[in-house]
Amino acid sequence: MAEVLRVEKLEAGYGKFHVLFGVDIVVNSGEIVVLLGPNGAGKSTLLNSIVGMADVYSGRITLLGHDVTGKPPHEVMKLGVAYVMQSPNNFGTPNIFGELTVFENLIAASAGLSKKDVLKRVEEIYEIFPRLRELRDRKAKFLSGGERQMLAISLGLMKNPKLLMLDEPTAGLAPKLVSEFFSVIKDIRDKFGISILLVEQNAKKALEIGDRAYVLVTGRIRYSGDTKSIDEDRLAKLFLGQ
Ligand SMILES: Nc1ncnc2c1ncn2[C@@H]1O[C@H](COP(=O)(O)OP(=O)(O)OP(=O)(O)O)[C@@H](O)[C@H]1O
Ligand SMILES: [Mg+2]
Repeated sequence: MAEVLRVEKLEAGYGKFHVLFGVDIVVNSGEIVVLLGPNGAGKSTLLNSIVGMADVYSGRITLLGHDVTGKPPHEVMKLGVAYVMQSPNNFGTPNIFGELTVFENLIAASAGLSKKDVLKRVEEIYEIFPRLRELRDRKAKFLSGGERQMLAISLGLMKNPKLLMLDEPTAGLAPKLVSEFFSVIKDIRDKFGISILLVEQNAKKALEIGDRAYVLVTGRIRYSGDTKSIDEDRLAKLFLGQ
């Protein structure tokens, strides 16, 4: 199985604030890998480190065979990674363009697709998120939280990535919508063959759709393995540092 992402012995943080300690993770082609951990464990920091948005002190990050350790975001993204940041995030980065319509957002985000494939991809996105087709002419700033999150994920898909990193895509959504989102995440992997690194608070549902999982607690990987070999009891203990 080809490797999409490999993180080795990663030490990273923000300036002097050390967050990650000796972190190792791998994402193989076609996998959904779930990253779980309590608040403040460093999950977002790990994703930030991969795309050059946190400070890497040592270790190595390999994306699709390229060493991207310490490379700036635009160079890493070019290689085929889309990052849907947690919202709101502490960089103050909105994950959609408020003044553009849904359709304009999708077109503006397209990269790595030929002209002919752009409209085809928009159509495929409308098939997985039918609501976005209905909303195609609405300015993004008027979307509801759930709709906004659908659009943010879709903007990632417009980049035709090999790896899609989703940071808490279901945060703040109504329970019914949460289930829908999880099935869409699975569809994205199945239909587009995109590998997914998924950070989630909703551990039970994430473990259901994931192939493998990592549990990060206070900056260290405390579990790595099959999603079937970990249950909520074990997870709760790990979260408490036991
Ligand atoms: N841009 C930043 N600058 C400085 N410190 C930061 C920054 N972002 C996060 N931190 C700190 O790094 C630590 C890890 O935060 P991180 O956001 O990675 O955790 P997380 O596991 O994603 O948590 P959550 O589940 O709440 O999203 C926290 O102590 C946080 O305060
Ligand atoms: Mg986070």
